Amino acid sequence: MCGIIGYIGTKNATPILFNGLKRLEYRGYDSAGIVTLDKEFHMKKDVGKVDEINTRLNFSDLPGTLGIAHTRWATHGGVTKENAHPHTDCEGKIAVVHNGIIENYQELKKNLVSNGHKFKSQTDTEVIPHLIEEIMKRGKNFHDSTLSALRSLEGSYAILALHKNERKIVAARKGSPLVIGVADGSYFAASDIPAFLEHTKNVVYMHDSDVALLTDTGMKVFSLLEGGDVNRKVDTVDWDIRQAEKGEFNHFMLKEISEQVETVQKAVQQTKEVVDGVVHSIRNAHGIFLIASGTSYHACLAASYILSKLNKMHVNVVLASEFPHYEHFLTPKTLVVAVSQSGETADVLEAVKYAKARGCKILSIVNVVGSSLTRTSDSFLNLNAGPEICVLATKSYTSQLALFTLLAYALSGKLEEGKKRLNYLWNVIYHLTSATVKEKIKELAEKLKNKEHIFLIGRGLEYTTALEAALKIKEVSYIHAEAFAGGELKHGPIALVEDGTPCIVFVSEETEKEILSNANEIKSRGGYIIGVSPTNNEVFDFWLKVPEANNENPIVQIIPIQILAYQLAVLRGLDPDHPRNLAKSVTVK
Ligand code: AGP
Repeated sequence: MCGIIGYIGTKNATPILFNGLKRLEYRGYDSAGIVTLDKEFHMKKDVGKVDEINTRLNFSDLPGTLGIAHTRWATHGGVTKENAHPHTDCEGKIAVVHNGIIENYQELKKNLVSNGHKFKSQTDTEVIPHLIEEIMKRGKNFHDSTLSALRSLEGSYAILALHKNERKIVAARKGSPLVIGVADGSYFAASDIPAFLEHTKNVVYMHDSDVALLTDTGMKVFSLLEGGDVNRKVDTVDWDIRQAEKGEFNHFMLKEISEQVETVQKAVQQTKEVVDGVVHSIRNAHGIFLIASGTSYHACLAASYILSKLNKMHVNVVLASEFPHYEHFLTPKTLVVAVSQSGETADVLEAVKYAKARGCKILSIVNVVGSSLTRTSDSFLNLNAGPEICVLATKSYTSQLALFTLLAYALSGKLEEGKKRLNYLWNVIYHLTSATVKEKIKELAEKLKNKEHIFLIGRGLEYTTALEAALKIKEVSYIHAEAFAGGELKHGPIALVEDGTPCIVFVSEETEKEILSNANEIKSRGGYIIGVSPTNNEVFDFWLKVPEANNENPIVQIIPIQILAYQLAVLRGLDPDHPRNLAKSVTVK
């Protein structure tokens, strides 16, 4: 997804904007640009990585203490220099950067072109500066013209806009994330906090339809929804910049895998009243839906097995993008649990909108407090995992699992037992992320790195682990990895097995007998069997030892495969933190 950052203050803007773009890289992008204001606009933009563009165009000689910048993840229009942001109006007096999708841009563009506006790009974004220009022609000032322009936009946006004759930033959001950083005598506006965290921990979370006016003398927020000025409080985040840096690790992915020693414990550090509140909502619900996308969906799937096992409770697990097709069952007594690391996934926000329209109660489980999802929920639980920078979800997944497992224990009146069991896992995870184990996994990665297909099987909870493991491998190494429920093999998938086909088998005490017979079926057709299992077995060609952890198996068994996926990417010369075509938060539908 695109990333935006703006700065107004007393320091040279370019280094602040450049470093901010670097911290937004993990969101996924294909081009970037910066514009600063120093009497005139000074703008440089191009396709490629931020560092590459800087080498070619040298951002550092852009003058001024005010500017906005952008990393573009193409939605409308190809990856070209013309389509890179910032975009300007006909006279080059207005500059805009944008994250989101303007759904009615064709109609707006048609009207603007018929009024003589000349467009330079194929993007939806470019209609914004031209629209502001058109409205200013009718006598409104820049800020009011921007408000009017925003009212005619349909879709989602996080926008920063400048006018070359005015020393101010207009920052607006609807459906895409935008936070304001407040420092002494200066303001930042960015897609998320790591972009300016080194400068300030004081943040203002913008609400949907908020429009902030940032000047040297202060900040004012206008709500298009409420039709007037609003007060937004200044929060202080407890992250420190080291959490948003790689430290001694080569990639955020490996750093965040290693952080799971602590983050699983942090996930369960929930107060008794918070847990009791959630337990009460669950007990009083008539129908429960867990909704999420991607990895968060896999955590919900695992949760459904755990809630069934520990609490004899049925919950519906639905992909957020599919949820609107379920709306017929929803009633005001339905509890919808929306799970999203970023709290900005468009499919999840859309599903929650449907559910709220039906009067459902919304409980969300997020890792970013102040995200859109926390603001549209009746209540939320915080994973406390700290910023997850890598595009791949790793620590947030095991934190989601830990939190769901804790809730399952709490629902059966065993909160303290649950906390104890989950806190104990730290030394299991510590061992599984040790250098010795990584070396062993590297041996496996060497064997698999040139494979075209990898299959993964499991039963029960281990089936959900197989699904998540397949996603990890495919999204970072680009090897086609596919998960099957062990019992499904004979219903078709086993036709795919050829000589040497690798298959990762997740084994637990509960499912050992059946899943090992599935492994033998694959082996007898030439498959190469990798066992993720507490005990070795003759069917295994390669054994990854993981301790039996019963209901906590999903937390423990995914870790070696997170490491395997990472090592496959590195061995294949890929960047684990920036997989192609992917973004950290899918803020468009
Ligand atoms: C997981 O590795 C992927 N990055 C992706 O599937 C992700 O889990 C999904 O987009 C959901 O993101 P969210 O948890 O922020 O909603």
